[in-house]
Amino acid sequence: MIRIPYIVAIDGPAASGKSTLAEKLADFLGYLYFDTGVMYRAVTLIALREFQSINDELRVTKLAERIDIDVRPPSVQDGRKYDVWANGEDVTWLIRCPEVDANVSQVSAYPGVRRAMTAQQRRIGQRGRVVMVGRDIGTVVLPEADLKIYLDASAEERARRRYLEMQQRGEEVSFQSILDSMRRRDQIDSTREVAPLRPAEDAVILNSDGITAEEVLEQVKTLLADC
Ligand code: CDP
Repeated sequence: MIRIPYIVAIDGPAASGKSTLAEKLADFLGYLYFDTGVMYRAVTLIALREFQSINDELRVTKLAERIDIDVRPPSVQDGRKYDVWANGEDVTWLIRCPEVDANVSQVSAYPGVRRAMTAQQRRIGQRGRVVMVGRDIGTVVLPEADLKIYLDASAEERARRRYLEMQQRGEEVSFQSILDSMRRRDQIDSTREVAPLRPAEDAVILNSDGITAEEVLEQVKTLLADC
């Protein structure tokens, strides 16, 4: 018999397939899908714009405390899965630009920024019936989650996926620059002092190398019986 988890936490490094899995799983369960990375990306985008740099930790933290971030159903049919609004502006695609990619991990390592984002994420997660995705959901944001998945894949496979995504959006990027930037981000994310990227002790570790998103979903469905 399938027992349905109330809260699902999915963590893992960049482009391991977390978002695709979470979206499909949320669809299957009829739950809300919430990608916490968009919040750190929105803070980074607005900080770069307002301060031209993200190096002033105090200013960036104050910004994180007052920024108004909203995630809503898609308002435009341009391939987006949801809208991301920051301070009343649609930033859905802007938060995916290379400048944000290059700076988001430094912003996410600021303890005050994490405090502000984690509080909002917990409020959403504790309502239940949610699949929440990030780096620290199973370890810090929602340690009470009844199903925790840590989805991994090799750096080359992850960079290849991100490269194809960007090519499809018509962006000109080199594979090597994506691989380098992703390795840099993983390094910062897994060595920071607060809420580093790592599997929770009770997480199920999966690897998406060489298997399709559907196959990963099938593996997760078999886990539902045990949680
Ligand atoms: O989509 P991708 O895996 O490239 O990244 P993301 O999930 O959008 O997250 C972007 C960045 O936000 C990560 O590299 C982390 O630095 C940070 N992040 C975090 O620290 N904690 C989370 N719960 C989610 C994202």
